[in-house]
Amino acid sequence: MDQLSHIANQISILEITYVVASVLFVLGLKMLSHPLTARRGNILAAFGMCFAIIATILFHRKDGEPIGHIPWILGAIVIGTAIGWTIAKKVKMTAMPQLVSFFNGMGGAAAALISMMEFPHVIPDPIHGMANGHVLAILLGLMIGTISWAGSMIAYGKLDGWIGDLRLKWLKYVNLTILVVLIGFIIFIMTHQVKSASELTPLIYIMFAVAVIYGVLFVMPIGGADMPVVISLLNSFTGVAAAMGGFLYKNQAMLTGGILVGSAGTILTILMCRAMNRSLLNVIVGVFGGGGQAIAGATGSVKEITLSDAAVLLSYSKKVVIVPGYGLAVAQAQHICHELDKLLDEKGVEVKYAIHPVAGRMPGHMNVLLAEADVPYEQLIESDEINPDLPNTDVLVVIGANDVVNPAAEDDPSSPIYGMPIVKARDAKNIIVMKRGMGKGYAAIENMLFFNDKTRMLFGDAKTSLQNLVNEVKSL
Ligand code: TAP
Repeated sequence: MDQLSHIANQISILEITYVVASVLFVLGLKMLSHPLTARRGNILAAFGMCFAIIATILFHRKDGEPIGHIPWILGAIVIGTAIGWTIAKKVKMTAMPQLVSFFNGMGGAAAALISMMEFPHVIPDPIHGMANGHVLAILLGLMIGTISWAGSMIAYGKLDGWIGDLRLKWLKYVNLTILVVLIGFIIFIMTHQVKSASELTPLIYIMFAVAVIYGVLFVMPIGGADMPVVISLLNSFTGVAAAMGGFLYKNQAMLTGGILVGSAGTILTILMCRAMNRSLLNVIVGVFGGGGQAIAGATGSVKEITLSDAAVLLSYSKKVVIVPGYGLAVAQAQHICHELDKLLDEKGVEVKYAIHPVAGRMPGHMNVLLAEADVPYEQLIESDEINPDLPNTDVLVVIGANDVVNPAAEDDPSSPIYGMPIVKARDAKNIIVMKRGMGKGYAAIENMLFFNDKTRMLFGDAKTSLQNLVNEVKSL
């Protein structure tokens, strides 16, 4: 009994709060994995974070002293919340990836700042000097957090369209060298005998600058269709950097939060690498794709289809597959698209959606979009799974998608998207492509599918075209 009460005294309220917060993070993350529960999962995890912050402010003690500078901390929280809230409220759904990248970068910057602030206060161990876990956590937090911040800012600029690609063959060697230099910094600092860590502070600033250069250079060559992979990798970097902060402050909530973000980001990176058929090493040193310019000018002409012909073709088909893409999201045409699939279903047509892992501009974009319109989950089929069935598909309707149906990924070794698995649209018996004009997709390359003999174009904004198509189908 005595032992039990001793153990109870050892566990502080703060630690219990951190465990509760960690449980809320885990539950929140689990719920985020399904569109129906994602919103609640997000709120639950945010609640866990609030809980951890309030408990830290109230109960944290250092050398018996409570936390100081409370007005500054509260002021920073209020200003940060107001800025974050306003930006998140105003952002368009299609600009969400940029925002995610920007916020992710802020997480990396915070982790790097923690390391820079804590390093001068390190007291070298009397036996091992600087060679201890505490210093390692600080240096890794600095390196990974800075790379994540610098890389995320470049990714933000690229997704927003004001930073282009820098494709230089030798850049991968430069990047590998910088990576080795950064590891060299860590080894040098940890094995250097000093009386006080502050003697090495200038090195920390140089290391920060080198990590900024690496973050910029490793994201610069990556572009087009490969951006999702690098974004999820940067996301996992921020998680790992935050986890280092958790080690540093022996803060379980920060540690669990960081580990969850780090591992979720790593799993997503691996899945994205698989989806894009790329290797992880290539992502880390910033090399992707064929690197060449794909099919400069398209040959042949495109054929258009009238609304009434499209309506007849769809209504008298047995199997229809819809390939949604970024344009569907821009046009906000998901609801009217579902109306079309319900109409066809009433006419006895089997309608499925082919979901490509990187369609749209963020992971799971099409799933979220279609779930918003209440399209039943069973109708959404991963592209790998639906591809073998496409030769039996009467009509494949591409709505605002481009790169994810581009046959250059299979045919053209010089194409930047070469090797990326696609929805094999050209295998279907008939193809209807709905887009506004002959605009290119995110990878900015020509798409020969539009010139295929089986393809008919239905030009116009996806929402307007779908509305007109629904009216035509109804009038049949
Ligand atoms: P994209 O290749 O970007 O093509 C979208 C097409 O939609 C464009 O060609 C455009 O042609 C058309 N469009 C735009 N607005 C439209 C509207 N209002 N109505 C009808 N059509 C419209 O899209 P995708 O096939 O979904 O491929 C996604 C690309 O983004 C991939 O390269 C992927 O790697 C990249 N990416 C993905 C992510 C994630 S995680 N999903 C993140 C970043 C980048 P018009 O201008 O002629 O209309």
